[in-house]
Amino acid sequence: MKYGYFDNENREYVIERPDVPASWTNYLGVKDMCAVISHNAGGYLFYKSAQHHRITRFRPNGVPLDRPGHYVYLRDDETGDYWSVSWQPVAKDLKYFQCRHGLSYSKFSSTYGGIGAEQTLFIPVEDDVELWDVKIKNNSDRKRNLSIFSYCEFSFNEIEIDNQNHQMSLYCAGSNYGDGIIEYDLFYVPGAYHYFASNFEPDSFDCLRDKFIGNYRTETNPAAVELGQCGGSSELGGNHCGSLHKRIILEPGEETRIVYMLGEGNRDCGRIIKQKYSNIENVDKAFTELKKYWDRKLKILQVHTPNEGMDTMLNTWNLYQAETNVVWSRFASFIEVGGRTGLGYRDTAQDVMCIPHSNPAKCRQRIIELLRGQVNMGYGLHLFDPDWFDPEKKNKPKIKSPTIVPEPDLSNMIHGLKDTCSDDALWLVPAICEYIKETGEAVLLDERVTFADGGEATVYEHMKRILDFSAQQVGATGICKGLRADWNDCLNLGGGESAMVSFLHYWALQAFLEAARFAGRQEDVQKYGTMADKVRNSCEKELWDGQWYIRGITAKGDKIGTKESREGKVHLESNAWAVVSGVAGKERALSCMDAVDEYLYSDFGIHLNSPSFTQPDDDIGFITRVYRGIKENGAIFSHPNPWAWVAECKLGRGDRAMKFYNALLPYNQNDMIEIREAEPYSYCQFIMGRDHTAHGRARHPWLTGSAGWAYFAATRYMLGIRLTFDGMVIDPCIPESWEGFQADRSWRGAEYRISVRNPGRVQKGIKYIKLNGRLIEDAIPPQPEGTVNMVEVIMG
Ligand code: GLC
Repeated sequence: MKYGYFDNENREYVIERPDVPASWTNYLGVKDMCAVISHNAGGYLFYKSAQHHRITRFRPNGVPLDRPGHYVYLRDDETGDYWSVSWQPVAKDLKYFQCRHGLSYSKFSSTYGGIGAEQTLFIPVEDDVELWDVKIKNNSDRKRNLSIFSYCEFSFNEIEIDNQNHQMSLYCAGSNYGDGIIEYDLFYVPGAYHYFASNFEPDSFDCLRDKFIGNYRTETNPAAVELGQCGGSSELGGNHCGSLHKRIILEPGEETRIVYMLGEGNRDCGRIIKQKYSNIENVDKAFTELKKYWDRKLKILQVHTPNEGMDTMLNTWNLYQAETNVVWSRFASFIEVGGRTGLGYRDTAQDVMCIPHSNPAKCRQRIIELLRGQVNMGYGLHLFDPDWFDPEKKNKPKIKSPTIVPEPDLSNMIHGLKDTCSDDALWLVPAICEYIKETGEAVLLDERVTFADGGEATVYEHMKRILDFSAQQVGATGICKGLRADWNDCLNLGGGESAMVSFLHYWALQAFLEAARFAGRQEDVQKYGTMADKVRNSCEKELWDGQWYIRGITAKGDKIGTKESREGKVHLESNAWAVVSGVAGKERALSCMDAVDEYLYSDFGIHLNSPSFTQPDDDIGFITRVYRGIKENGAIFSHPNPWAWVAECKLGRGDRAMKFYNALLPYNQNDMIEIREAEPYSYCQFIMGRDHTAHGRARHPWLTGSAGWAYFAATRYMLGIRLTFDGMVIDPCIPESWEGFQADRSWRGAEYRISVRNPGRVQKGIKYIKLNGRLIEDAIPPQPEGTVNMVEVIMG
């Protein structure tokens, strides 16, 4: 069963049936303001932080599932019949419905009673305001008297107050109306306001939610819309909304356009925005700018392969999702609705590693933020309020209008070893390397950055501290300790040992060694080369189980993930990482990845571990207290799936890599939504595993490391286009059946038109590469800015 389709020409996903089994969301906003919006126009708006600066309210995990939202109601003033442009909340039987989720905009269209309507929501690149661009057309053959009403529910800045302690939101915030603009005044917070404006002089308005909706009614049947007139309500205290009403008359065939503006700041800010966007040309210009913003990003890498789903995801949706994670971090969706602000250390480092080409500035900013969140000993902190480690922001208001957020308490932020995740900072080493390879900004290595617990050092020195920390924090067998958790938040080994972290340590060491060689630091090449050898020896000695690698060792000395284990027998992370890192020799590598295929593969992707745990065991961790087949306990956890694709590519098994890739590809589940439920244009954090009754159901869209990693693995390893410190390497690993593929890549100002041909139908191997007709032996060095270069790759 399907609910929509991919419109690749317009880079949109088109939903034609609005009653999808879960909210299908989109992210609007590319700088400081963000809206998370469902296919039914449900959702919320915030400025910088969904926790500390909410603009509109959302009732999470609600019934119905996506209310309230940013709604437009239409009413036939002759019959009194009314509907909403976006199916919900009125949910009339529309003659026609479409929701087009595009890149940072969502467009809802419908036809009802001879009236065609369209509502486009977007946030201009340059202005912190959400525009609602509404077009209404009379498709009937008679003159129509209509009313149009907007509706959104304002939120207090602080989500905690808005949701749990209503004393301030109910009694210390109020609304007022003037000059056609509604102002929501967060009186409790000096200088804080939201506004709602339009490009017309309203016929009526309501600022009070409960007046607009009416007693014992909902957004489905608001009293004001039923009546055809708002009540002119506003009050100091209470619950507030933005409803501006306009009566319009449309002749047959006539069309009108209305713009609503939802923004941050007081009435004066609203006036400026109202003036600007009352000129429709400025609305069109802002929309075109937004389109160009994404075109520029996507143009940096476009691929044309025999796999249409792969093209659709890599050329549009996968990059878009990865960008969303880098820009908005992981705390605003319909699942996490703003309870936290900040950066997950490991998540951010990985997200950044994957897309330095499309957002170098943001990636650089994130790298510095993470380095500032590192302590002298080398580990990373849990950065759940990001502002304290950014000295530029520390003494300034975080947001345009001040909030009541106290200054973060530094002493609370710095935690000891017990609370440290053993993998966190390791991801930053390759992330820094990827950034430099992309941008050429090698001087970053010498930039001085503070430590969270005092002092400062160069970025290069920060990297060494990270590697030294892992070398020191080893258990009895020489394998890295698990500490609070490793990549798997639910594997809480404490002083026990984590195979995955040792493999990751080895991988980070390889990345660092490349950087050290490039920077000519011979003594470090020596020292960290020796460290890497030691790590490898410990791994090979302690972690091999005969057919695959174990996952770890508990503090009591019990091995996790052996052939004797009844539960949690085979684990994806350790086996994929044994190969990705380069630790495993060929024979072991083939064997352990065969075990992944045999024990963990399913048609929906690769399970994280199998069989799931059923017996709580606190020596292993919280993983054993999650129901089987869900999340970390035996689900198809998406984020590590691409690690297996990389591993297979390293082994030269392109067919296997593509089998794994296709299984997880959301695009391929477009016609199975009765099983998947979640949006087919977004990777989800996990898919219920075979040990669960709802096997195949996907959950937690958008905010997941699978976005970055899927992009990274598919472009760098499957298509094989990756950078080294010396240049661009092209080393694909593809299915035997592929005749080849094309890719257009921009890099440091030059363009590369890459054509890969596979006459011998191999899965891996290069016969030769020609750059502009000349044979190339090693990596392709960066070409002069402005040049267009032809790269011919013959496999064989
Ligand atoms: C979640 C967390 C991530 C963690 C993963 C596995 O996605 O955000 O940090 O690695 O779960 O536990």
